[in-house]
Amino acid sequence: MERGFVLLVAALTVYVASGVQGTGHLSFANDTQVNITQAGCGVTKLCVATPDGCDPTGNTSCLFLSVIASTPVAPNGTDLSVELRGDSMGYVAMGLTANASEGTTMLFICAQNSTDNGTFFFQTMQRNNTDDALSPTETRVTEIRGLVKNNVIQCEFNIPDLNATNTRSSHATTFTILLGTGSFDGNTPGPFNISLNSGSLNLADPASNIATTPAPNVTMTTSNTTSGSSAAVHPHAVLLLSVLTLSVMTA
Ligand SMILES: *[C@@H]1O[C@H](CO)[C@@H](O)[C@H](O)[C@H]1NC(C)=O
Ligand SMILES: *[C@@H]1O[C@H](CO)[C@@H](O)[C@H](O)[C@H]1NC(C)=O
Ligand SMILES: *[C@@H]1O[C@H](CO)[C@@H](O)[C@H](O)[C@H]1NC(C)=O
Ligand SMILES: *[C@@H]1O[C@H](CO)[C@@H](O)[C@H](O)[C@H]1NC(C)=O
Ligand SMILES: *[C@@H]1O[C@H](CO)[C@@H](O)[C@H](O)[C@H]1NC(C)=O
Ligand SMILES: *[C@@H]1O[C@H](CO)[C@@H](O)[C@H](O)[C@H]1NC(C)=O
Ligand SMILES: *[C@@H]1O[C@H](CO)[C@@H](O)[C@H](O)[C@H]1NC(C)=O
Ligand SMILES: *[C@@H]1O[C@H](CO)[C@@H](O)[C@H](O)[C@H]1NC(C)=O
Ligand SMILES: *[C@@H]1O[C@H](CO)[C@@H](O)[C@H](O)[C@H]1NC(C)=O
Ligand SMILES: *[C@@H]1O[C@H](CO)[C@@H](O)[C@H](O)[C@H]1NC(C)=O
Repeated sequence: MERGFVLLVAALTVYVASGVQGTGHLSFANDTQVNITQAGCGVTKLCVATPDGCDPTGNTSCLFLSVIASTPVAPNGTDLSVELRGDSMGYVAMGLTANASEGTTMLFICAQNSTDNGTFFFQTMQRNNTDDALSPTETRVTEIRGLVKNNVIQCEFNIPDLNATNTRSSHATTFTILLGTGSFDGNTPGPFNISLNSGSLNLADPASNIATTPAPNVTMTTSNTTSGSSAAVHPHAVLLLSVLTLSVMTA
């Protein structure tokens, strides 16, 4: 009984600390290992990046996303496994939407808290595609791992049972991916500044963007993938996160 009380207090603390929204829909992985590379792009995972084909292990600015989507089994949605890497002193985010100019976007935010020594944290928001306004949502996300090193934010997470049934006539794994960045003032994320709009893609097909991309990009991606896997070996001096603290508190 006493243990139950302690857990309740811990849960309340987490809820209060987040201020903006509950965090019960988020769960963090034990190990903070994050290793985002181009290995498998176009074969086992769908990758989008800006600048086009940039290497997430390199030391130049690169906003990179990879997604692995399971085939949905009705009535459930698809399960997504996501890797995101970008440069920002605030946040980097992946948006999923049916149409970037109407309706809403599900926004998955990986951020650093500049008022707390760049501590990693994770949020889900809904973006109104008409007026760009962000509001908190509670999309379930699991296995969250994050790593912040100066202005580079890396994170990995899973989205189980992604619900794509809202006004969807097409394939349930078809989405437009938006990648972008924004500021973070310690409490709320600033406007989502979109730097990549993938257009409509089937997330379950790792090559779905390669087939529709002009030939020069395909060659570029291929050559970069080769150099990417060898470049991936270099070790990082890393700053591990307080994610552990959170997972201990919620465990
Ligand atoms: C976390 O770690 C503990 C012990 O190290 C393990 O029993 C548990 O399954 C792990 N949980 C997850 C979600 O990996
Ligand atoms: C990162 O992953 C790549 C391929 O998936 C692997 O070759 C490399 O050894 C990994 N690096 C670390 C530091 O785990
Ligand atoms: C970073 O990139 C610059 C050139 O862009 C290069 O000279 C330097 O060696 C690179 N550093 C590392 C650690 O890869
Ligand atoms: C749908 O998801 C629920 C809850 O996660 C699970 O219990 C059920 O087995 C899933 N159904 C199918 C057909 O995968
Ligand atoms: C997206 O929404 C805009 C504005 O409502 C509409 O004009 C356009 O046809 C839509 N695009 C698709 C692919 O549905
Ligand atoms: C950011 O850090 C400040 C200072 O530690 C803290 O008050 C605030 O709650 C943190 N914000 C988030 C979203 O974790
Ligand atoms: C931030 O880091 C500095 C140096 O590591 C430390 O002195 C300070 O207490 C830290 N501040 C917070 C809010 O953790
Ligand atoms: C989005 O914003 C527009 C304009 O402010 C508003 O009319 C619309 O109801 C909003 N949509 C949602 C889903 O909040
Ligand atoms: C998916 O979303 C629709 C509309 O928002 C809702 O009616 C439906 O119950 C949801 N399905 C699941 C499995 O959550
Ligand atoms: C949005 O991002 C672009 C680069 O991707 C940058 O030039 C621009 O200043 C940013 N806008 C805002 C409002 O942050």
